[in-house]
Amino acid sequence: MKDIGLIGLAVMGQNLALNIARKGYSVSVFNRTANTTQEFIKNRVKVENIEGYYDIKSFVESLAKPRKVILMIKAGKPVDDVIQQLLPYLDKGDLIIDGGNSYFKDTSRRINELKEKGILYLGMGVSGGEAGALHGPSLMPGGSYDAYKMVEDILLKIAAQTEAGPCCTYVGNDSAGHFVKMVHNGIEYAIMQAIAEAYDVLRKVLKLSPEEIGEIFEKWNNGELNSFLMEISYKIMKYKDKETGKHLVDLILDEAEQKGTGKWTSQTSLDLGIPTPSLNLAVEARTLSFFKKARVELSKKVTKTYTTTNVDKEKIIVDLENALLFSVFISFSQGLWFISEASKTFNYDIDLSEVLRIWKGGCIIRAKILDFLREIIKENTENVNLLNSEKALSFLMNKIDSIKYITNLSKEFYLSTFVLNSSLDYFLSMIEENLPANLIQAQRDFFGAHTYKRIDKEGIFHTEWETQ
Ligand code: 6PG
Repeated sequence: MKDIGLIGLAVMGQNLALNIARKGYSVSVFNRTANTTQEFIKNRVKVENIEGYYDIKSFVESLAKPRKVILMIKAGKPVDDVIQQLLPYLDKGDLIIDGGNSYFKDTSRRINELKEKGILYLGMGVSGGEAGALHGPSLMPGGSYDAYKMVEDILLKIAAQTEAGPCCTYVGNDSAGHFVKMVHNGIEYAIMQAIAEAYDVLRKVLKLSPEEIGEIFEKWNNGELNSFLMEISYKIMKYKDKETGKHLVDLILDEAEQKGTGKWTSQTSLDLGIPTPSLNLAVEARTLSFFKKARVELSKKVTKTYTTTNVDKEKIIVDLENALLFSVFISFSQGLWFISEASKTFNYDIDLSEVLRIWKGGCIIRAKILDFLREIIKENTENVNLLNSEKALSFLMNKIDSIKYITNLSKEFYLSTFVLNSSLDYFLSMIEENLPANLIQAQRDFFGAHTYKRIDKEGIFHTEWETQ
Protein backbone atom coordinates (compact mmCIF):
# COMPACT_ATOMS: atom_id res chain seq x y z
CA MET A 1 0.00 0.00 0.00
CA LYS A 2 1.33 3.39 -1.00
CA ASP A 3 1.42 6.38 1.36
CA ILE A 4 0.04 8.86 -1.14
CA GLY A 5 -1.16 9.16 -4.74
CA LEU A 6 -0.51 11.88 -7.29
CA ILE A 7 -2.48 12.57 -10.44
CA GLY A 8 -1.09 14.75 -13.22
CA LEU A 9 2.41 14.13 -14.51
CA ALA A 10 3.30 17.38 -16.22
CA VAL A 11 6.70 18.59 -14.99
CA MET A 12 5.32 20.09 -11.75
CA GLY A 13 3.55 16.81 -10.92
CA GLN A 14 6.58 14.69 -11.78
CA ASN A 15 8.84 16.83 -9.64
CA LEU A 16 6.48 16.89 -6.70
CA ALA A 17 6.14 13.07 -6.85
CA LEU A 18 9.94 12.73 -6.85
CA ASN A 19 10.24 15.22 -3.99
CA ILE A 20 7.70 13.27 -1.87
CA ALA A 21 9.37 9.93 -2.65
CA ARG A 22 12.81 11.31 -1.80
CA LYS A 23 11.51 12.20 1.67
CA GLY A 24 10.86 8.50 2.26
CA TYR A 25 7.23 8.10 1.22
CA SER A 26 5.84 5.63 -1.30
CA VAL A 27 3.89 7.23 -4.14
CA SER A 28 1.40 5.94 -6.73
CA VAL A 29 1.10 8.07 -9.85
CA PHE A 30 -1.50 8.34 -12.57
CA ASN A 31 -1.76 10.47 -15.68
CA ARG A 32 -4.54 10.88 -18.25
CA THR A 33 -2.21 9.72 -20.99
CA ALA A 34 -0.47 6.43 -20.16
CA ASN A 35 2.54 7.29 -22.27
CA THR A 36 3.54 10.16 -19.96
CA THR A 37 3.42 7.82 -16.96
CA GLN A 38 5.57 5.22 -18.73
CA GLU A 39 8.13 7.82 -19.79
CA PHE A 40 8.26 9.27 -16.28
CA ILE A 41 8.79 5.89 -14.64
CA LYS A 42 11.37 4.90 -17.24
CA ASN A 43 13.37 8.13 -17.43
CA ARG A 44 13.12 9.83 -14.08
CA VAL A 45 12.32 7.30 -11.38
CA LYS A 46 15.50 5.63 -10.11
CA VAL A 47 15.62 4.51 -6.48
CA GLU A 48 12.42 6.31 -5.47
CA ASN A 49 9.44 4.24 -4.36
CA ILE A 50 7.10 5.42 -7.12
CA GLU A 51 4.76 3.18 -9.08
CA GLY A 52 2.75 4.09 -12.15
CA TYR A 53 -0.90 3.07 -12.58
CA TYR A 54 -2.86 3.05 -15.80
CA ASP A 55 -6.45 3.07 -14.58
CA ILE A 56 -8.01 5.09 -11.79
CA LYS A 57 -9.43 2.08 -9.99
CA SER A 58 -6.13 0.28 -9.44
CA PHE A 59 -4.46 3.63 -8.68
CA VAL A 60 -6.94 4.27 -5.86
CA GLU A 61 -6.79 0.68 -4.65
CA SER A 62 -3.01 0.92 -4.32
CA LEU A 63 -3.32 3.59 -1.62
CA ALA A 64 -3.32 3.03 2.14
CA LYS A 65 -6.53 4.14 3.89
CA PRO A 66 -7.53 6.84 4.57
CA ARG A 67 -6.36 7.60 1.04
CA LYS A 68 -4.57 10.79 0.13
CA VAL A 69 -4.53 11.95 -3.49
CA ILE A 70 -2.75 15.07 -4.75
CA LEU A 71 -4.00 16.59 -8.01
CA MET A 72 -1.39 18.44 -10.05
CA ILE A 73 -3.55 19.24 -13.03
CA LYS A 74 -4.72 22.25 -14.98
CA ALA A 75 -7.14 24.49 -13.07
CA GLY A 76 -10.80 24.55 -14.09
CA LYS A 77 -12.86 21.74 -15.59
CA PRO A 78 -10.06 19.13 -15.54
CA VAL A 79 -10.10 19.24 -11.73
CA ASP A 80 -13.87 18.59 -11.61
CA ASP A 81 -13.50 15.81 -14.18
CA VAL A 82 -10.79 14.01 -12.22
CA ILE A 83 -12.77 14.35 -8.98
CA GLN A 84 -15.73 12.70 -10.73
CA GLN A 85 -13.48 9.87 -11.93
CA LEU A 86 -12.08 9.34 -8.43
CA LEU A 87 -15.36 9.45 -6.51
CA PRO A 88 -16.68 5.93 -7.28
CA TYR A 89 -13.55 4.43 -5.74
CA LEU A 90 -13.04 6.68 -2.73
CA ASP A 91 -14.38 6.03 0.77
CA LYS A 92 -15.56 8.39 3.46
CA GLY A 93 -12.57 9.98 5.19
CA ASP A 94 -10.34 9.92 2.10
CA LEU A 95 -8.62 13.16 1.15
CA ILE A 96 -8.12 14.99 -2.15
CA ILE A 97 -5.55 17.81 -2.31
CA ASP A 98 -5.69 20.19 -5.26
CA GLY A 99 -2.16 21.53 -5.79
CA GLY A 100 -2.98 23.53 -8.94
CA ASN A 101 -3.72 27.22 -9.36
CA SER A 102 -7.46 26.76 -8.90
CA TYR A 103 -9.83 29.70 -8.60
CA PHE A 104 -10.66 29.99 -4.90
CA LYS A 105 -14.42 29.99 -5.48
CA ASP A 106 -14.12 26.66 -7.31
CA THR A 107 -12.20 25.32 -4.33
CA SER A 108 -14.93 26.45 -1.90
CA ARG A 109 -17.56 24.78 -4.06
CA ARG A 110 -15.57 21.52 -4.26
CA ILE A 111 -14.95 21.49 -0.49
CA ASN A 112 -18.68 21.77 0.14
CA GLU A 113 -19.74 19.28 -2.52
CA LEU A 114 -17.26 16.69 -1.28
CA LYS A 115 -18.07 17.30 2.38
CA GLU A 116 -21.59 16.02 1.68
CA LYS A 117 -20.02 12.80 0.44
CA GLY A 118 -17.69 12.53 3.44
CA ILE A 119 -14.59 13.23 1.34
CA LEU A 120 -12.04 15.70 2.70
CA TYR A 121 -10.55 18.32 0.41
CA LEU A 122 -7.61 20.73 0.64
CA GLY A 123 -6.98 23.58 -1.81
CA MET A 124 -3.23 23.97 -1.72
CA GLY A 125 -1.27 26.79 -3.35
CA VAL A 126 2.07 25.49 -4.60
CA SER A 127 4.66 28.04 -5.60
CA GLY A 128 8.18 27.75 -6.89
CA GLY A 129 7.86 26.44 -10.40
CA GLU A 130 9.52 23.23 -11.52
CA ALA A 131 12.63 23.59 -9.37
CA GLY A 132 10.53 24.41 -6.31
CA ALA A 133 8.36 21.34 -6.78
CA LEU A 134 11.47 19.15 -6.84
CA HIS A 135 13.66 20.77 -4.21
CA GLY A 136 11.11 22.40 -1.93
CA PRO A 137 8.16 24.61 -2.84
CA SER A 138 6.23 27.03 -0.70
CA LEU A 139 3.00 25.27 0.21
CA MET A 140 -0.23 27.09 1.07
CA PRO A 141 -2.80 24.48 2.11
CA GLY A 142 -6.29 25.53 3.15
CA GLY A 143 -9.46 23.65 4.06
CA SER A 144 -10.46 21.80 7.18
CA TYR A 145 -7.79 21.49 9.85
CA ASP A 146 -8.48 17.75 10.15
CA ALA A 147 -7.73 17.35 6.45
CA TYR A 148 -4.48 19.29 6.88
CA LYS A 149 -3.42 17.13 9.81
CA MET A 150 -3.69 14.01 7.64
CA VAL A 151 -0.85 15.22 5.42
CA GLU A 152 0.98 17.68 7.63
CA ASP A 153 4.04 15.43 8.06
CA ILE A 154 4.49 14.96 4.34
CA LEU A 155 3.92 18.63 3.50
CA LEU A 156 6.34 19.91 6.14
CA LYS A 157 9.03 17.56 4.79
CA ILE A 158 8.64 18.37 1.10
CA ALA A 159 8.37 22.15 1.56
CA ALA A 160 11.33 24.51 1.23
CA GLN A 161 13.21 24.77 4.52
CA THR A 162 14.36 28.11 5.93
CA GLU A 163 15.82 29.24 9.24
CA ALA A 164 12.22 30.17 10.15
CA GLY A 165 11.03 26.61 9.54
CA PRO A 166 9.42 24.74 6.64
CA CYS A 167 7.60 26.92 4.11
CA CYS A 168 4.25 25.35 4.82
CA THR A 169 1.56 26.13 7.33
CA TYR A 170 -2.13 25.54 7.68
CA VAL A 171 -3.24 28.76 5.96
CA GLY A 172 -6.87 28.71 7.03
CA ASN A 173 -10.41 27.49 6.48
CA ASP A 174 -12.18 26.77 3.27
CA SER A 175 -10.40 28.13 0.17
CA ALA A 176 -7.86 30.18 2.20
CA GLY A 177 -4.91 28.33 0.62
CA HIS A 178 -5.87 29.01 -2.95
CA PHE A 179 -6.89 32.56 -2.05
CA VAL A 180 -3.46 33.29 -0.58
CA LYS A 181 -1.77 31.70 -3.60
CA MET A 182 -3.90 33.86 -5.90
CA VAL A 183 -2.78 37.03 -4.11
CA HIS A 184 0.81 35.72 -4.10
CA ASN A 185 0.51 35.71 -7.88
CA GLY A 186 -1.02 39.20 -7.95
CA ILE A 187 2.04 40.42 -6.02
CA GLU A 188 4.26 38.35 -8.33
CA TYR A 189 2.79 40.17 -11.37
CA ALA A 190 3.37 43.59 -9.73
CA ILE A 191 7.00 42.90 -8.80
CA MET A 192 7.76 41.43 -12.23
CA GLN A 193 6.27 44.50 -13.89
CA ALA A 194 8.14 46.91 -11.58
CA ILE A 195 11.45 45.18 -12.41
CA ALA A 196 10.55 45.33 -16.11
CA GLU A 197 9.92 49.07 -15.78
CA ALA A 198 13.31 49.59 -14.14
CA TYR A 199 14.85 47.61 -17.03
CA ASP A 200 13.08 49.90 -19.51
CA VAL A 201 14.52 53.01 -17.85
CA LEU A 202 18.01 51.51 -17.82
CA ARG A 203 17.91 50.52 -21.47
CA LYS A 204 16.07 53.53 -22.90
CA VAL A 205 17.17 56.44 -20.70
CA LEU A 206 20.70 55.30 -19.90
CA LYS A 207 21.07 53.26 -23.10
CA LEU A 208 22.67 50.38 -21.23
CA SER A 209 23.19 46.93 -22.75
CA PRO A 210 21.56 43.84 -21.24
CA GLU A 211 25.00 42.85 -19.92
CA GLU A 212 25.35 46.20 -18.10
CA ILE A 213 21.80 45.99 -16.80
CA GLY A 214 22.57 42.47 -15.61
CA GLU A 215 25.49 43.85 -13.59
CA ILE A 216 23.23 46.45 -11.95
CA PHE A 217 20.51 43.91 -11.20
CA GLU A 218 23.10 41.57 -9.72
CA LYS A 219 24.34 44.35 -7.47
CA TRP A 220 20.78 45.13 -6.39
CA ASN A 221 20.24 41.46 -5.71
CA ASN A 222 23.14 41.57 -3.28
CA GLY A 223 21.41 44.33 -1.34
CA GLU A 224 17.96 45.13 0.03
CA LEU A 225 16.26 44.01 -3.19
CA ASN A 226 17.59 40.50 -2.77
CA SER A 227 14.89 38.20 -4.11
CA PHE A 228 14.24 35.33 -6.46
CA LEU A 229 12.75 37.62 -9.12
CA MET A 230 15.76 39.96 -8.99
CA GLU A 231 18.10 37.00 -9.21
CA ILE A 232 16.45 35.48 -12.27
CA SER A 233 16.25 38.93 -13.88
CA TYR A 234 20.02 39.47 -13.69
CA LYS A 235 20.59 35.97 -15.02
CA ILE A 236 18.17 36.63 -17.87
CA MET A 237 20.00 39.87 -18.75
CA LYS A 238 23.30 38.07 -19.06
CA TYR A 239 22.02 35.08 -21.00
CA LYS A 240 23.16 34.81 -24.62
CA ASP A 241 21.17 32.97 -27.28
CA LYS A 242 23.05 29.83 -28.30
CA GLU A 243 22.20 30.24 -31.98
CA THR A 244 22.82 33.92 -32.58
CA GLY A 245 25.16 34.82 -29.71
CA LYS A 246 22.92 37.83 -29.00
CA HIS A 247 21.34 38.56 -25.64
CA LEU A 248 18.24 36.40 -25.66
CA VAL A 249 16.10 38.99 -23.86
CA ASP A 250 16.47 41.28 -26.89
CA LEU A 251 15.05 38.57 -29.14
CA ILE A 252 11.90 37.87 -27.12
CA LEU A 253 8.59 39.29 -28.36
CA ASP A 254 7.23 41.92 -25.96
CA GLU A 255 3.79 40.39 -25.42
CA ALA A 256 3.36 39.22 -21.80
CA GLU A 257 1.02 36.28 -21.35
CA GLN A 258 -1.06 35.38 -18.31
CA LYS A 259 -3.02 32.42 -17.09
CA GLY A 260 -5.53 34.26 -14.93
CA THR A 261 -4.40 34.35 -11.31
CA GLY A 262 -3.34 38.01 -11.46
CA LYS A 263 -6.62 38.96 -13.07
CA TRP A 264 -8.60 37.05 -10.42
CA THR A 265 -6.70 38.93 -7.72
CA SER A 266 -7.73 42.25 -9.23
CA GLN A 267 -11.30 41.17 -9.89
CA THR A 268 -11.68 39.96 -6.32
CA SER A 269 -10.08 43.02 -4.76
CA LEU A 270 -12.50 45.18 -6.77
CA ASP A 271 -15.39 43.00 -5.57
CA LEU A 272 -14.28 43.34 -1.95
CA GLY A 273 -13.54 47.05 -2.29
CA ILE A 274 -9.90 46.87 -1.21
CA PRO A 275 -7.47 49.00 -3.24
CA THR A 276 -4.69 47.03 -4.96
CA PRO A 277 -3.74 49.39 -7.81
CA SER A 278 -0.15 48.18 -8.21
CA LEU A 279 -1.41 44.62 -8.64
CA ASN A 280 -4.19 45.71 -10.98
CA LEU A 281 -1.97 47.86 -13.18
CA ALA A 282 0.47 44.98 -13.59
CA VAL A 283 -2.36 42.97 -15.15
CA GLU A 284 -3.27 45.92 -17.40
CA ALA A 285 0.33 46.30 -18.50
CA ARG A 286 0.41 42.64 -19.60
CA THR A 287 -2.93 43.02 -21.38
CA LEU A 288 -1.82 46.15 -23.18
CA SER A 289 1.47 44.59 -24.25
CA PHE A 290 -0.52 42.17 -26.39
CA PHE A 291 -1.54 44.95 -28.80
CA LYS A 292 1.82 44.88 -30.50
CA LYS A 293 0.55 45.65 -34.00
CA ALA A 294 -1.37 48.73 -32.85
CA ARG A 295 1.62 49.87 -30.79
CA VAL A 296 3.98 49.54 -33.72
CA GLU A 297 1.65 51.50 -35.98
CA LEU A 298 0.99 54.26 -33.45
CA SER A 299 4.65 54.60 -32.59
CA LYS A 300 5.30 55.53 -36.21
CA LYS A 301 2.66 58.26 -36.17
CA VAL A 302 4.06 60.37 -33.34
CA THR A 303 7.20 62.40 -32.93
CA LYS A 304 8.64 62.27 -29.46
CA THR A 305 10.58 65.36 -28.45
CA TYR A 306 13.11 64.85 -25.70
CA THR A 307 13.71 67.82 -23.45
CA THR A 308 16.03 66.09 -21.00
CA THR A 309 19.27 65.08 -22.60
CA ASN A 310 21.76 65.27 -19.76
CA VAL A 311 21.15 62.41 -17.40
CA ASP A 312 23.06 61.54 -14.27
CA LYS A 313 23.71 57.82 -14.57
CA GLU A 314 24.76 57.21 -10.97
CA LYS A 315 21.78 59.10 -9.58
CA ILE A 316 19.33 57.24 -11.80
CA ILE A 317 20.70 53.84 -10.75
CA VAL A 318 20.49 54.71 -7.05
CA ASP A 319 17.01 56.20 -7.41
CA LEU A 320 15.78 53.27 -9.45
CA GLU A 321 16.85 50.86 -6.73
CA ASN A 322 14.95 52.92 -4.17
CA ALA A 323 11.93 53.27 -6.45
CA LEU A 324 11.83 49.50 -6.89
CA LEU A 325 12.06 48.94 -3.15
CA PHE A 326 9.24 51.43 -2.65
CA SER A 327 7.08 49.69 -5.23
CA VAL A 328 7.85 46.18 -3.97
CA PHE A 329 6.95 47.24 -0.41
CA ILE A 330 3.71 48.85 -1.60
CA SER A 331 2.78 45.81 -3.70
CA PHE A 332 3.24 43.51 -0.71
CA SER A 333 1.35 45.88 1.56
CA GLN A 334 -1.62 46.04 -0.84
CA GLY A 335 -1.67 42.25 -1.15
CA LEU A 336 -1.47 41.71 2.61
CA TRP A 337 -4.19 44.23 3.41
CA PHE A 338 -6.37 42.54 0.81
CA ILE A 339 -5.71 39.08 2.30
CA SER A 340 -6.56 40.26 5.79
CA GLU A 341 -9.83 41.86 4.69
CA ALA A 342 -10.73 38.77 2.66
CA SER A 343 -9.92 36.64 5.70
CA LYS A 344 -12.63 38.51 7.62
CA THR A 345 -15.13 38.38 4.75
CA PHE A 346 -14.68 34.66 4.06
CA ASN A 347 -13.90 33.62 7.68
CA TYR A 348 -10.53 32.21 6.63
CA ASP A 349 -8.78 33.08 9.89
CA ILE A 350 -5.43 33.70 8.18
CA ASP A 351 -2.32 34.59 10.17
CA LEU A 352 -0.49 37.16 8.01
CA SER A 353 2.79 36.66 9.80
CA GLU A 354 2.66 32.95 8.97
CA VAL A 355 1.87 33.77 5.33
CA LEU A 356 4.98 35.94 5.19
CA ARG A 357 7.02 33.20 6.82
CA ILE A 358 6.02 30.55 4.29
CA TRP A 359 6.78 32.97 1.44
CA LYS A 360 10.38 33.23 2.67
CA GLY A 361 11.52 30.16 0.78
CA GLY A 362 10.55 28.16 -2.26
CA CYS A 363 8.10 30.60 -3.81
CA ILE A 364 8.45 33.05 -6.68
CA ILE A 365 8.07 36.16 -4.49
CA ARG A 366 10.60 35.07 -1.85
CA ALA A 367 12.58 38.14 -0.93
CA LYS A 368 14.70 39.66 1.78
CA ILE A 369 12.11 42.39 2.36
CA LEU A 370 9.73 39.76 3.79
CA ASP A 371 11.69 39.83 7.06
CA PHE A 372 11.00 43.54 7.37
CA LEU A 373 7.32 43.07 6.52
CA ARG A 374 7.06 40.34 9.12
CA GLU A 375 8.69 42.54 11.72
CA ILE A 376 6.04 45.20 11.04
CA ILE A 377 3.15 42.73 11.20
CA LYS A 378 4.47 41.21 14.42
CA GLU A 379 4.80 44.65 16.02
CA ASN A 380 1.06 44.96 15.95
CA THR A 381 -1.03 42.13 14.57
CA GLU A 382 -3.99 44.50 14.23
CA ASN A 383 -1.91 46.51 11.75
CA VAL A 384 -3.30 44.77 8.72
CA ASN A 385 -2.51 47.82 6.67
CA LEU A 386 1.27 47.99 6.92
CA LEU A 387 1.23 51.73 6.27
CA ASN A 388 -0.03 52.20 9.83
CA SER A 389 3.44 51.39 11.07
CA GLU A 390 5.97 54.13 11.78
CA LYS A 391 8.73 51.89 10.43
CA ALA A 392 6.88 51.47 7.15
CA LEU A 393 6.26 55.19 6.79
CA SER A 394 9.87 56.11 7.38
CA PHE A 395 11.01 53.37 4.96
CA LEU A 396 8.72 54.78 2.26
CA MET A 397 9.38 58.45 3.00
CA ASN A 398 13.11 57.75 2.70
CA LYS A 399 12.50 56.57 -0.83
CA ILE A 400 9.76 58.88 -1.99
CA ASP A 401 12.04 61.42 -3.66
CA SER A 402 13.60 58.62 -5.67
CA ILE A 403 10.31 57.26 -6.98
CA LYS A 404 9.05 60.80 -7.70
CA TYR A 405 12.21 61.47 -9.68
CA ILE A 406 12.09 58.16 -11.60
CA THR A 407 8.41 58.42 -12.54
CA ASN A 408 8.88 62.03 -13.73
CA LEU A 409 11.99 61.12 -15.65
CA SER A 410 10.19 58.18 -17.29
CA LYS A 411 7.52 60.49 -18.60
CA GLU A 412 10.11 62.83 -20.07
CA PHE A 413 11.33 59.83 -22.01
CA TYR A 414 7.79 58.73 -22.95
CA LEU A 415 8.07 55.57 -20.87
CA SER A 416 5.08 54.04 -19.17
CA THR A 417 5.72 52.87 -15.63
CA PHE A 418 2.35 51.45 -14.61
CA VAL A 419 3.40 49.80 -11.37
CA LEU A 420 5.92 52.41 -10.23
CA ASN A 421 3.35 55.15 -10.85
CA SER A 422 0.48 53.36 -9.21
CA SER A 423 2.58 52.46 -6.17
CA LEU A 424 3.47 56.11 -5.72
CA ASP A 425 -0.09 57.31 -6.39
CA TYR A 426 -1.47 54.75 -3.95
CA PHE A 427 0.86 56.01 -1.26
CA LEU A 428 0.18 59.67 -2.07
CA SER A 429 -3.57 59.01 -1.84
CA MET A 430 -3.21 57.09 1.41
CA ILE A 431 -1.28 59.92 3.07
CA GLU A 432 -3.61 62.63 1.75
CA GLU A 433 -6.20 64.09 4.07
CA ASN A 434 -8.30 65.68 1.35
CA LEU A 435 -8.82 63.79 -1.89
CA PRO A 436 -10.83 65.33 -4.74
CA ALA A 437 -13.54 62.73 -4.14
CA ASN A 438 -15.73 65.58 -2.88
CA LEU A 439 -16.05 66.71 -6.50
CA ILE A 440 -16.93 63.17 -7.62
CA GLN A 441 -19.70 63.10 -5.04
CA ALA A 442 -20.97 66.49 -6.24
CA GLN A 443 -20.93 65.32 -9.86
CA ARG A 444 -22.84 62.15 -8.95
CA ASP A 445 -25.39 64.18 -7.10
CA PHE A 446 -25.62 66.71 -9.95
CA PHE A 447 -26.47 64.23 -12.68
CA GLY A 448 -28.12 61.46 -10.74
CA ALA A 449 -29.30 62.79 -7.36
CA HIS A 450 -27.02 60.21 -5.77
CA THR A 451 -26.67 62.32 -2.59
CA TYR A 452 -23.57 63.19 -0.58
CA LYS A 453 -22.38 63.62 3.00
CA ARG A 454 -20.99 66.91 4.37
CA ILE A 455 -18.01 67.62 6.54
CA ASP A 456 -19.79 70.30 8.57
CA LYS A 457 -22.96 68.46 9.54
CA GLU A 458 -24.43 64.95 9.85
CA GLY A 459 -26.89 63.53 7.35
CA ILE A 460 -27.40 62.70 3.68
CA PHE A 461 -27.85 65.62 1.30
CA HIS A 462 -29.04 66.35 -2.20
CA THR A 463 -28.83 69.64 -4.07
CA GLU A 464 -30.69 70.96 -7.11
CA TRP A 465 -27.42 72.13 -8.61
CA GLU A 466 -28.86 74.19 -11.48
CA THR A 467 -31.30 76.21 -9.47
CA GLN A 468 -28.70 78.65 -8.12
C1 6PG B 1 4.38 30.11 -8.84
C2 6PG B 1 3.80 30.79 -10.05
C3 6PG B 1 3.03 29.87 -10.94
C4 6PG B 1 2.37 30.55 -12.13
C5 6PG B 1 3.32 31.10 -13.12
C6 6PG B 1 2.69 31.57 -14.42
O1 6PG B 1 4.13 30.61 -7.77
O2 6PG B 1 5.06 29.10 -8.99
O3 6PG B 1 2.94 31.80 -9.64
O4 6PG B 1 2.05 29.26 -10.16
O5 6PG B 1 1.58 29.64 -12.75
O6 6PG B 1 4.02 32.13 -12.57
O7 6PG B 1 1.66 32.48 -14.23
P1 6PG B 1 1.17 33.40 -15.44
O8 6PG B 1 1.14 32.53 -16.67
O9 6PG B 1 -0.17 33.90 -15.08
O10 6PG B 1 2.21 34.46 -15.57
